[in-house]
Amino acid sequence: VVEKLTTSLGEYERRARGLLPSELFDRWFGSRDDPLWLTNTNNVDGYDRVFLRPRVLAAEPAVGLSTAVLGIDVDSPVYLAPAGAQGRFNPEAELASARAARSAGTIFALSSASTYSMEEVREVSDGPLLFQLYVLKDRGLTSELVKRAENAGYAAIIVTVDEPATRSGERDGASNALRESRQPKGLKSHTPTTPFGNLRGTGINSEEDMLDAMEARLNWAVIDWIRGITDLPLIIKGIQVPEDARLAVDHGAQAVVVSNHGGHSLNGAYPTILSMPEIVDAVAGEAEVHLDGGIRRGTDVLKALGLGARAVAIGRGMYWGLAVGGEGGVKEVLDVLQEELYLACLFCSVTDIRAVDRTLVRLPR
Ligand SMILES: Cc1cc2nc3c(=O)[nH]c(=O)nc-3n(C[C@H](O)[C@H](O)[C@H](O)COP(=O)(O)O)c2cc1C
Repeated sequence: VVEKLTTSLGEYERRARGLLPSELFDRWFGSRDDPLWLTNTNNVDGYDRVFLRPRVLAAEPAVGLSTAVLGIDVDSPVYLAPAGAQGRFNPEAELASARAARSAGTIFALSSASTYSMEEVREVSDGPLLFQLYVLKDRGLTSELVKRAENAGYAAIIVTVDEPATRSGERDGASNALRESRQPKGLKSHTPTTPFGNLRGTGINSEEDMLDAMEARLNWAVIDWIRGITDLPLIIKGIQVPEDARLAVDHGAQAVVVSNHGGHSLNGAYPTILSMPEIVDAVAGEAEVHLDGGIRRGTDVLKALGLGARAVAIGRGMYWGLAVGGEGGVKEVLDVLQEELYLACLFCSVTDIRAVDRTLVRLPR
């Protein structure tokens, strides 16, 4: 069989880096081995510390990559993570990403801080959509966002809990030029005048306004309040330790996302892939466990599934695809991961990813 693959997420990263102003690239994605982005580097490197245990002589004619995520049938366990302000990278922004996810047969998660509104995204895609909620100090506005997501047919609410509305002064300092001019060179037409489509008319008109508007002191009572205002499935994103995973389940979450915000928040956090075993054990099958952070290869996806993930999400890979090729770029990024996952399954005699379990991986003692 001739390999169809001609590119990789690494290649997309290189191309995106070449296209984007360096302040923008560095502030949003960080660089490998930059001490300010240690958590991202560790997320990526974490996969090198997990090994596959390929079985042989167990092949069957077909390899199945489809699965169900919160009851939604998908063609691939890789979905698009909620990630804000995609209009900085392509004028079609989330419309392009949502379309790409739909044509790849997978889920698109829309950020609270998206360029386009949740209704506008729904208009261009009849595929499965999830809405990511940043809890705002204004609880009235917060519950309005949840109601709008329900009305627009979003399938679940992802509450992101690892973003205490603060910024690393050092990381921002390195990109002051970016903060001052909201229109980095070369991206003029891509920088929308109203940055947050979901928040038009609320007075939240800049990243600084958004940070001010966000609830910085979240607790489980807030989760209980959200649980009480919607019947949609609840996904808690930003879980990093088993104690919190357990609490999330006890507070009514249908899924947790093991995530450290792609290394955007705390420096020095544990690689998400290596947190999986203890978190999966704590959840004990009572909720789905998803993972994001550092997924760059199909083998990374397979390792995550082996450690108990129902699905994984990509952030940076989506942005790189968007910057390089809009909808087609995001689609190719999803296709590449799917193709790589398919090949990894062939090598490991996996015929149905839903049947993958911990016997597929080996963790060094
Ligand atoms: C530039 C950027 C913006 C992001 N914006 C959001 C956001 O608005 N909401 C959210 O829940 N997570 C956000 N994230 C985190 C992603 O959902 C995801 O956790 C992370 O990107 C996964 O790691 P990866 O980039 O290595 O794939 C953002 C990540 C990046 C890189």
